[in-house]
Amino acid sequence: MDRIRITGGNPLNGHLTVSGAKNAALPLMISSLLTEEPLILNNVPRLADVLQLERILINHGVDIAVHGRKPADGDDSGQRMTFTAAEIVDTCAPYDLVSKMRASFWVIGPLLARMHEARVSLPGGCAIGTRPVDFFLYGLKQLGAEIDIDNGYVIAKAPPGGLVGGEVDLPRVSVGATHTIMMAATLARGKTVIRNAAMEPEIGNVAECLVAMGASISGIGTRTLVIEGVERLHGATVDVIPDRIEAGTFAMAVAMTGGDVLLRGARPEHLQAALDLVERAGATITREAGGLRVRRNGNGLQAVDVEVDTFPGFPTDLQAQFMSLMTRANGTSEIRETIFENRFMHVAELLRFGADIRVDGQLATVTGVPELRGAQVMATDLRASVSLVIAGLAASGETIVSRIYHLDRGFERLEEKLGRCGAKIERLAG
Ligand code: EPZ
Repeated sequence: MDRIRITGGNPLNGHLTVSGAKNAALPLMISSLLTEEPLILNNVPRLADVLQLERILINHGVDIAVHGRKPADGDDSGQRMTFTAAEIVDTCAPYDLVSKMRASFWVIGPLLARMHEARVSLPGGCAIGTRPVDFFLYGLKQLGAEIDIDNGYVIAKAPPGGLVGGEVDLPRVSVGATHTIMMAATLARGKTVIRNAAMEPEIGNVAECLVAMGASISGIGTRTLVIEGVERLHGATVDVIPDRIEAGTFAMAVAMTGGDVLLRGARPEHLQAALDLVERAGATITREAGGLRVRRNGNGLQAVDVEVDTFPGFPTDLQAQFMSLMTRANGTSEIRETIFENRFMHVAELLRFGADIRVDGQLATVTGVPELRGAQVMATDLRASVSLVIAGLAASGETIVSRIYHLDRGFERLEEKLGRCGAKIERLAG
């Protein structure tokens, strides 16, 4: 298994380009199941999760083409890909494919809407929490689906003639349930209202894509989505939005090491809550043409408290990275996770750098220390793994991060991007 070696203590300087958002690219790819015409996506990131979803879509009969040349060193442009689901050859998403990535469960929405049936393996638990699918099943039932669970599979059937519009009041904001029910409702007969919908920018990206494909959706960017079903959708060309989590991660890395970096393509309106905190911690952030500039001149970091929330609040996907930053702050910060019940697995690893962190349930109390020291650490999930990279960049001496396949799921060529900004970071082949 590959590992990453970091020699810490170097500031980051220069510029880097933010890749397309993984969490937008995945549901956008799944939307291609809704039409027999080609869906062209620009700026698709090169990630292990994208490749995994390609396998799942191919299994359903989707024809996938990647256009253009292979990226040269220093070329940060995303992929242009065409997804054509001319014919769905299989409405089953089997366990061995779905169990590797939770988002693959979301195919249930488009399959049910277009083919009137789907058999999709339950995604199961995952490291950061139990992550049930009850909201999905409730929402699809509200659209008239009959749902059965058999042998670890969700078997969903639409009523004769297909799904029908309905009222869906989500008990709690859920990104995946919102994507799935919204996609399903585009081809349902009549009107669907989704209340308490997720407002994450990735939902907006998918909703705009569906509209470009001929869907009728209003309330995009609000808590209430209204979808008027149409008979069919057609092809479209859509850009994947820049990854706000990657941008926030880099902003925190610069705040941690000191330096001056332009994050090309970062959209401040997609991560304002995180930027506010990074500024309060001591970095200077300015909007510049084409991106965001993050600077810290080496002055001490300040401790800041944070409570994770759904968008537009501070995202759970940046909680581990922010905790890493706070390990070096002056004072004590309280970090409260509210979305997932088990998302503090990075704490045990951060302690190996000499950090001072106490956990009580969903609350982590971080007291800054004057120095982090390089260590051998293990990645436990995607965002946790990058928090260890951030700590390693600022720690004295050498850090080795193992199990970095977690990192490859969601960060495109991380070591290359950071290396170009002056970090001493390299991948060691396993
Ligand atoms: C999405 O996961 C993201 N994944 C996650 O990013 C992100 O952390 C999360 O949203 C929250 O922002 C993708 O977009 C691919 P939820 P999702 O449904 O949709 C509970 C990363 O690192 N819930 O919004 O799975 C659930 O257990 C990943 O890129 C139910 O109880 O998250 C959680 O506590 C990790 N029943 C809460 O709701 C359900 O049926 C919110 O989860 C569905 C969810």
